Amino acid sequence: MRVGVLTGGGDCPGLNAVMRAVVRKGVGRYGYDFTGFRDGWRGLLEGETVRLDVAAVRGMLPRGGTLLGSSRTNPFSQDDGVRRIRENLAKYEVDALIAIGGEDTLGVAARLTDEYGVRCVGVPKTIDNDLSATDYTFGFNTAVTVATEAIDRLHTTAESHMRVLVVEVMGRHAGWIALHSGLAGGANCILIPEQRFDVDEVCSWVTSRFRASYAPIVVVAEGAMPKGGEMVLKDGSTDSFGHVRLSGVGEWLAKEIESRTGKEARTTVLGHVQRGGTPTAYDRWLATRFGLHAIDAVRDEDWGSMVALRGTDIVRVPLSQATEKLKTVAPELYEEAGVFFG
Ligand code: F6P
Repeated sequence: MRVGVLTGGGDCPGLNAVMRAVVRKGVGRYGYDFTGFRDGWRGLLEGETVRLDVAAVRGMLPRGGTLLGSSRTNPFSQDDGVRRIRENLAKYEVDALIAIGGEDTLGVAARLTDEYGVRCVGVPKTIDNDLSATDYTFGFNTAVTVATEAIDRLHTTAESHMRVLVVEVMGRHAGWIALHSGLAGGANCILIPEQRFDVDEVCSWVTSRFRASYAPIVVVAEGAMPKGGEMVLKDGSTDSFGHVRLSGVGEWLAKEIESRTGKEARTTVLGHVQRGGTPTAYDRWLATRFGLHAIDAVRDEDWGSMVALRGTDIVRVPLSQATEKLKTVAPELYEEAGVFFG
């Protein structure tokens, strides 16, 4: 058995740990060979491969990024995409494919399995933690840890200058990173995409924090929107899956706060620092377990399945389920955090 592996979409701490586990168990227990495809679906479309054996994954457990490279290539946006994928799978004698990715990459894997009989197994990844089929995705804990550390650091400089510091975090259309890091970092308020925010209310929280002689840290998710307004974007560009590139709300909000309260307000956009560097111990643990179970799914010929975390168990769910619904922050959960606003 030769197993192809690819990593697609935005990179995420823990990708290398998944591949290490897949290869170590696949080679050691089942005697499989592996071929890596470079830059997600692009490598499979263009026949660009990367050596993937035990030596290649040695030392990879703590390394961020992905040794295979990644891209947001969508094979279905190209007329002959499926034909080229099939040709390259045959050319490299790849019997099965492990696709490690988020909603888009797994959506492609689901279609390839269901509509074209390509033998795929999926592993979910995203720092956004927005896949409904799994309790957590690896990479999320690292992103939250990075954001929390940044908020901790921003508190001291905010207080030295008695400024408002707005921290914009990633997460796309889900507020998980904002909610978790905002709570862990003691933010003055947390603004998430699931609940539109009222700028006047944000200003009153900010003002009340100053009255208590503390400088407020406002955590805003990149996808958060003001009441009665549009999503604030730096530019309206999209990727090959048609997703708009987010960011800009932090800068916009700081200006609004400054003009309405008269207090100096600055913005820190954490951006890709949340996705870079070594995974936390939790993410290494989760990624490793996903890898161990993904290669078992290949051995069981459970095509069209994806590994997922339920409680502390790793289970298998249909790939189609993974991409069905976005997992967003429930109102009750957001409401809990409201105790600390202002
Ligand atoms: O999905 C992960 C993510 O980091 C989002 O939080 C963010 O909106 C997006 O990717 C950024 O994508 P890119 O790296 O392509 O700019």
